[in-house]
Amino acid sequence: MIDAGTTIKLEQEHYAQVYQKLPVVIDRGQAALIWDVDGKEYLDCMAGYGEALVGHCNPRVVSAVKDQADRLITSHPSLYSPVRSQFLEKLSGISPRGLDHAFLSNSGAEANECAIKLARKCTGRKEIIAFTGSFHGKTMGAVSITWAKKYREPFEPLVPGVHFAKFGEIDTVKSVLGDETGAVIVEPVQGESGVHIPPDDFLLQLRELCDENGSLLIFDEIQTGLGRTGKMWAGEHWNVTPDIMTVAKGLAGGLPTGATLSTEEVMSSLKLGEHSSTFGGNPLCCAAASATIDYIVENKLASRAEEIGEFFKKGLEKIASEKNVAREVRGLGLMLAFETRFEVKEIILECLRQGLLVLYSGRNIIRLLPPLIIETEQIERALGVLASSLPNLAAPITIEGRTGSG
Ligand SMILES: Cc1ncc(COP(=O)(O)O)c(C=O)c1O
Repeated sequence: MIDAGTTIKLEQEHYAQVYQKLPVVIDRGQAALIWDVDGKEYLDCMAGYGEALVGHCNPRVVSAVKDQADRLITSHPSLYSPVRSQFLEKLSGISPRGLDHAFLSNSGAEANECAIKLARKCTGRKEIIAFTGSFHGKTMGAVSITWAKKYREPFEPLVPGVHFAKFGEIDTVKSVLGDETGAVIVEPVQGESGVHIPPDDFLLQLRELCDENGSLLIFDEIQTGLGRTGKMWAGEHWNVTPDIMTVAKGLAGGLPTGATLSTEEVMSSLKLGEHSSTFGGNPLCCAAASATIDYIVENKLASRAEEIGEFFKKGLEKIASEKNVAREVRGLGLMLAFETRFEVKEIILECLRQGLLVLYSGRNIIRLLPPLIIETEQIERALGVLASSLPNLAAPITIEGRTGSG
């Protein structure tokens, strides 16, 4: 096997330098643990960026992939496939009511591209409302509805007709909603911007506004879906069903798969040849995705995420109050954020040294997206590492002019 130093050198020489890399050369994984090429163990509260939802190398997924690899690896969606049809049936079985039609792709961004095209085609309207703090991916359509200017501005001109309203503030949506609004797209809980939960009535108000205006409501459940927040879909926390929903990340146990779901009526607005993907609905990914759905359902991973997520959150709150370092601890289920009053880069590197992988979510937010199968003892271990990596602050300090309350 290639050693760590050579691996880093080769990736630096030959890979686009677009990722903020962590100094870890990963070799293998099992459940919530991964090991680097030198055999050092890490507890993985990053889970990729949430995609190792059912754990690394989940045995059900591995076995389904091995069986399928022996049978058939590729098959274009222009041919029928039993393994694809079985996955579609399982997916529609867990989907919100009515959203039983899907287009299959390979990533979250692609799932959102399809949602944008679907909304335009179905409504005949060209405008989309997205939100401050949103993240929907980095392809041209998806980045056009993503909030951070640093991702958008270097690539202008973008897809036109996008308006941004304030996440959680319905009046700001009303002020940009109009006759040309085809869709409103929202993450029910915002992920990349640091785990932001909307006010309780927000999604319902969006639903009502879209209905009154003849616009479609799109939920991007790419990070929140499949049990992550303690419900199968985050929209269930507020009993709101969208017209279109996008899913990806953990859908195929870590293999690249995205899905755009809608009702038959909405999906049928896309006509023959108007959208396609060579690899979408690939047999290997479909086999992995069926196994993933079975595993999530049979092991009740959504309610497990709710229960142990609460335990994790309480532990984080305890650290926050003992150390006086947090501005806020937020989250639902196993989608958690620890917002500090200082930069967290060094904390994240210290966690790494102590064998814990966590996510960076802006300069002062640590995000935790562990696999839903993480054990209680492993959460205790993560809390121990975080506690010893964070400084003790005697008195509140400020960042960006705000005073943290600890
Ligand atoms: C909410 C959300 N939408 C879309 C995406 C883009 O997914 P992908 O990186 O698979 O294109 C992400 C990725 O983090 C996401 O969190």
